[in-house]
Amino acid sequence: MTSSRKTVLVVGATGSIGRLVVEEALRQGWAVRALVRNAAKAGQIPAKAQVVLGDVTMPDTLRSDVDGVDAIVFTLGSDGGGKVGAETIDYGGVRNVLAALGARTARIALMTSIGVTNRTGAYNRATEAHDWKRRSERLVRASGLPYTIVRPGWFDYNGPDDHRLVLLQGDSRQAGNSSDGVIARRQIAEVLVRSLTSETALRKTFELVAEKGPAPANFDALFATLDADAPGALDGVRDMSNQPLEDEPKRVRDDLDAVLANRSAKR
Ligand SMILES: NC(=O)c1ccc[n+]([C@@H]2O[C@H](COP(=O)([O-])OP(=O)(O)OC[C@H]3O[C@@H](n4cnc5c(N)ncnc54)[C@H](OP(=O)(O)O)[C@@H]3O)[C@@H](O)[C@H]2O)c1
Repeated sequence: MTSSRKTVLVVGATGSIGRLVVEEALRQGWAVRALVRNAAKAGQIPAKAQVVLGDVTMPDTLRSDVDGVDAIVFTLGSDGGGKVGAETIDYGGVRNVLAALGARTARIALMTSIGVTNRTGAYNRATEAHDWKRRSERLVRASGLPYTIVRPGWFDYNGPDDHRLVLLQGDSRQAGNSSDGVIARRQIAEVLVRSLTSETALRKTFELVAEKGPAPANFDALFATLDADAPGALDGVRDMSNQPLEDEPKRVRDDLDAVLANRSAKR
């Protein structure tokens, strides 16, 4: 008997958010494929998920991992990896997985971060993590694939009654601490997976925080309150314009050109 369940590839499946995405996707009825770079961690993945081995910095290891997937959730992190980690994993990982997907289509959910457009804070100056995550967002927007980009606030700083999800746009909370907003890891995982099947989440970029109040009953209605990114735009709707394409490194512009060329080939 063949399964009619759709398949989602979770990239970052052994991470603090990715693990919960795997659980949530199984709960929501997906067939889950978990990308794991270290075989020793395969045992962390629930038995109901399929483990595939791959390292997002090694494109050759990714080819079969994307075969037949209907959706991809990215929850990569390069914790402690500094500028090199931010470029090769947070950004390069998204680039390489999209390249492996080639002309095929999949629904994308990409997790980046609240404050991702803040270039001048100490954190970004030290790591360039915001700049590289924003560049990964741009690749996804340029790909022409159906997507949702989720920029979570500070993980697991929630109070016990903070169940109400608040979706923001424009990335204007940039204190660089939990005063920007808090969100439980489980809530992030739920939003990422819900977005994959929601028409109203299509082409939307938003910051995600939680405040006091009840959990949402209807995610489609929640996503519907947001504006979509402008067609062809590289940045999220209402993002500040402070990372001009002409000032970007040539390798980044080349990557964008390659994604745009692939998009044209799909037509
Ligand atoms: N902490 C916060 O409050 C906060 C708020 C907003 C956004 N964020 C962002 O969230 C991200 C962290 O999420 P998290 O806690 O889930 O991260 P995490 O626990 O460090 O997980 C990162 C995942 O990426 C995988 N990975 C790293 N390099 C890889 C490679 N070369 N190939 C394949 N997989 C690779 C890791 O695999 P391994 O298990 O093998 O290492 C792991 O599965 C960070 O980028 C951070 O900027 C954090």
